[in-house]
Amino acid sequence: MVWAVVPAAGSGARMQSATPKQYLPLAGKTVLEHTLAALFSVERITGVVVAIADADSAWPVVADTFTGKRLEQVAGGEQRCHSVLHALTYLSGHAGDDDWVLVHDAARPCVRPADIDVLIDTLVAATDGGLLGVPVCDTMKRVAATGGVTATVDRQGLWHALTPQLFRLGQLRAALQQGIAAGISLTDEASAMEAAGYTPRMVEGHRDNIKITVASDLALAAHYLENRDT
Ligand code: CTP
Ligand code: MG
Repeated sequence: MVWAVVPAAGSGARMQSATPKQYLPLAGKTVLEHTLAALFSVERITGVVVAIADADSAWPVVADTFTGKRLEQVAGGEQRCHSVLHALTYLSGHAGDDDWVLVHDAARPCVRPADIDVLIDTLVAATDGGLLGVPVCDTMKRVAATGGVTATVDRQGLWHALTPQLFRLGQLRAALQQGIAAGISLTDEASAMEAAGYTPRMVEGHRDNIKITVASDLALAAHYLENRDT
């Protein structure tokens, strides 16, 4: 079985908006509604667990739009990894350790359902799971704190890590617990799995699967979504 986990408990500091970015309007819906609709359009996803911040008053309105879907809510945590772990702990009471968990940022509303299918199809035969990404195409520079360029980094083999990231529930839960206990900075699930000795597999996605981070990302996301629908 494949379950989805959506960390949606961030405050969106870089967006500098009073409304958390997952609730900002985008092409006729909120960001989070687009994200959840994309996940629910993938038939193999059995249910979705969303991590929501305690003080979040906007969530019930969004949840109402998914009445009849298998959608559960857990409390968010201090950092993204804690929010994800809360959702995995909840799922562990309902799912098997060998079930697959697809973790996808609330802030990535443009993910293509077809890419989620490719990710699942590619990885169910792999042992260590993996993630969607895209190869780096710019020339990469290492820059000192003073602003001087100290090196050109070979971009061969460099990829941008996106979400969804797909791992087995039991392995991912243990890897996140270990990583958090060890004080490692965990900005995605794959980093926890790598630290635990696994080799996640990179699966090529699309560049339009952007993470809404600053205000200008909204116009770009609207452009992607509107041009896809027509
Ligand atoms: N997230 C979460 N719990 C946290 C922090 C982040 O569930 N404690 C979620 C966000 O809601 C988002 C995803 O993790 O969907 C990716 O995080 P990011 O883009 O960094 O969102 P924010 O942390 O909200 O933004 P910022 O870093 O600008 O504050
Ligand atoms: Mg953040």
